[in-house]
Amino acid sequence: MRIPNWPVWDEREVELLRAVLESGQWGGFNPLVQRFEREFAGFQQCAHGVSLANGTVALELALQAAGVGPGDEVIVPAISFISTATAVSRVGATPVFVDIEPFSFNLDPERAAAAASPRTKAIIAVHFGGQLADMDCLMALAEERGLLLIEDAAHAHGSEWNGRRAGSLGVLGTFSFQNSKVMTAGEGGMLVSNDAGLAARVRSLADQGRRPGEGWFFHFELGTNYRLTAWQAAVLLAQLERLPEQIVLRTRNAELLRAELADVPGLRFQEVPPQATAHSYYLLLGRIEAAKFGAARDEFHRALTAQGIPCTPFYPHTLYANPLYQQGGCRIEPCPVAEACIQDAFWLPQRVLMGDEETTREIAAAIRGAGR
Ligand SMILES: Cc1ncc(COP(=O)(O)O)c(C=O)c1O
Repeated sequence: MRIPNWPVWDEREVELLRAVLESGQWGGFNPLVQRFEREFAGFQQCAHGVSLANGTVALELALQAAGVGPGDEVIVPAISFISTATAVSRVGATPVFVDIEPFSFNLDPERAAAAASPRTKAIIAVHFGGQLADMDCLMALAEERGLLLIEDAAHAHGSEWNGRRAGSLGVLGTFSFQNSKVMTAGEGGMLVSNDAGLAARVRSLADQGRRPGEGWFFHFELGTNYRLTAWQAAVLLAQLERLPEQIVLRTRNAELLRAELADVPGLRFQEVPPQATAHSYYLLLGRIEAAKFGAARDEFHRALTAQGIPCTPFYPHTLYANPLYQQGGCRIEPCPVAEACIQDAFWLPQRVLMGDEETTREIAAAIRGAGR
């Protein structure tokens, strides 16, 4: 099967990397870095972008800059990559693990509302696989209870909710450019916001506590160095140029797979509500009901792998089941949906959606064949 490799690159990356090489400014102060921040923040419909070393520290600095700390609780979905929770713990606050919805795989707003306590300061909405969480409900909840709504948009470059891009709906959004993400420089991150004060605070924290216009050796608060390099910015500028057409391709192929497999009993892909006006399709998520499909999720995974189709049998456990959180330091709400997804959900990585039509039809046939 002709499934393309990831990452994708061409002469454009080489050209921009060469420009960095020849400039002699290889660190975070090459104008290319600022250009990338402007272009990416603009693409996400935000006024400010602060590039950072990775998506994990972007979340940590976001929470710190927003004033989240010891004594505060932050609601996070029980299903995500670990950084969503550890960022909360690392600023001294307490993650509260809340269930997800059964077919969006995103934080359940009703459960989040029920879990909020007088100590709750923020909610982190993860846009899982590239589909935005229910931002209508989460924004209303945040407004009503006076909570900060933070978007962990590590999967959601270019994704939208009612025409508004990820990162522009909450008080701020964070992105990852790690190797598997829809734009990558191997590592990298970005914080976007329409709040100038928050963005300036994050920039200062990530740049040794400096302030614009002040001297190089003048430090105003306890910062550190989380700057992105010019090498990464060069590669990411090229990746950003290519992203819109890649989203069109993945969306077309995801829709073809959905249409080809709509009649397969016991197989349900992530439900896309009408408000999700764009989906990055970092992942195509789904769930298998073994009795109807004719094979359990793990058999399905083995069948696809045997045919050379990359497939991940979901996370092996909820975030709170990690040894780290089994020792405490968190609050755990009942999460029956998340627990069920651990048993029956899967995802296909973006490159499965980046082949031609014939390949996509072959993938559909293989998925159908994995069942009865
Ligand atoms: C949902 C989510 N948040 C945060 C991160 C952290 O990003 P990074 O790997 O760039 O630190 C990831 C990355 O894998 C992620 O999937």
